[in-house]
Amino acid sequence: MIMRVLYVTSEIAPLIKTGGLADVSAALPAALIAAGVDVRVLVPGYPQILRALPQLNDVALFALHDFPCASLLAAVLPDGVRIWVLDCPELYQRGGGPYQDEHGHDWPDNAQRFGLLSKVAAVLGSSDSSLGWKPDVVHCNDWQTGLTPAYLHFANKAAPCVMAIHNLAFQGVFPPDCVAELGLPAQSFQMEGVEYYGSLSFLKAGAYYADHISTVSPSYAEEIQDEALGFGMQGLLAQRHEVLSGILNGVDYTEWNPGCDTRLAQEYTAGDLRGKLANKIELQMRMGLRVDPEVPLFGMVSRFTFQKGLDLVLEIAPELLAMPAQLVLLGTGDADMQRAALELLHKYSGQVGVYVGFNEELSHLVEAGADVFLMPSRFEPCGLNQMYSQRYGTPPVVHATGGLKDTVVDCNVATLADGTASGFVFSPADADSLLLAVRRAVDAYYDKKIWHALQMNGMSKDFSWGKSAAAYIEIYERLMRR
Ligand code: ADP
Ligand code: GLC
Repeated sequence: MIMRVLYVTSEIAPLIKTGGLADVSAALPAALIAAGVDVRVLVPGYPQILRALPQLNDVALFALHDFPCASLLAAVLPDGVRIWVLDCPELYQRGGGPYQDEHGHDWPDNAQRFGLLSKVAAVLGSSDSSLGWKPDVVHCNDWQTGLTPAYLHFANKAAPCVMAIHNLAFQGVFPPDCVAELGLPAQSFQMEGVEYYGSLSFLKAGAYYADHISTVSPSYAEEIQDEALGFGMQGLLAQRHEVLSGILNGVDYTEWNPGCDTRLAQEYTAGDLRGKLANKIELQMRMGLRVDPEVPLFGMVSRFTFQKGLDLVLEIAPELLAMPAQLVLLGTGDADMQRAALELLHKYSGQVGVYVGFNEELSHLVEAGADVFLMPSRFEPCGLNQMYSQRYGTPPVVHATGGLKDTVVDCNVATLADGTASGFVFSPADADSLLLAVRRAVDAYYDKKIWHALQMNGMSKDFSWGKSAAAYIEIYERLMRR
């Protein structure tokens, strides 16, 4: 019998994306389908999604608890993935982003918006659903779907569920009155339930009630069981360690591959790197940098937040630029960090390029046109850009944390000798050790033999989704046997 999985997510590339979850939500369902699983992806009906999918068919209508009426619309994405769009204009039809308005403030009704998404997923995963298609497993992602396992727990004949944690720093914490408003049983509001330090936490609910918890790298699965990165949930996660797995994200090489990336100035392969230089020059011109094929060019594409360590890059910028080197920053987020990045741009014009905003095309050009990729994240559940940059022949400088430490091999005598060196790994996450790693990268850059070896090692790595999809299928099978 074919296994059926309902995959619930709050973003999916290229339709709506704020970060890595969107890339994963596009690629993992496709990889599961390729492995023979029957998947439906459930997403909120944001305007960006409704506009992009004109061919939608009505599938079901929901009038649930105190939520506004919503309908389920079905479509098939160009890659064959079947998507279910939850249309509820009152909650999802608005400008701004999926979680925040255009000024960066959280939508005040986020509890209702993602409560409804979670609730509908649970209805679809239980005998309350009127649809013929019933999932064997429900796969939830991040806090926006965190109430699904709770609703399923109290539903009839519920499918087992996996709670995938992509980032424990975002938990979806709301006032206690939301428990009743969202139709959760009063008895669920306790430590052995959805309660988290006196509030309702969507992600805690998911981690508590899910049949299995997954996260996006083996190292992060360990780290979140400790105080430093457990964000208050380390106790629960350690207690549930037997049903907690760390499965590394993959890379969608149909999207992220310099050999067939139409967003680049010129495509290139490991066998012929000449096109990479054309991208460097294009990037220098686009970002107002002095055109110079020789100078080492550092690139960063990131949400501008404390997590990502942009402040560390800004702190070492004077030394980095004096090496000499150039720096390109692409990102958006924290207002102070944006301001500081723009100040740097004005101080070092011709040497620094900054783009504040979200720009998919430019992100590909930075991966290809930079010589070194910067990812000094203080913590990083998985991280995708360091995997992309290795495929683009752009060795990354990363902090030894989470998925960064699981996917980048530090360059040293031993790893150069055994052919595994693929970047520069530093610790602790402070400016001094970042600067040291940057110096090592520049030294290596000027040694043509070492640099070429690093590029080849990175480019030949295989981070494709097949292995990770198989690991999820194994978990689904285990849950179905129970
Ligand atoms: P996170 O999900 O924590 O932001 P990841 O490394 O997993 O980090 O994924 C980030 C994704 O978002 C990557 O595909 C990256 O290229 C993309 N991205 C982040 N910021 C921007 C931006 N300003 N413009 C374009 N793409 C961006
Ligand atoms: C989160 C994490 C990032 C991860 C992504 C996709 O946003 O911050 O490390 O790669 O989710 O799983």
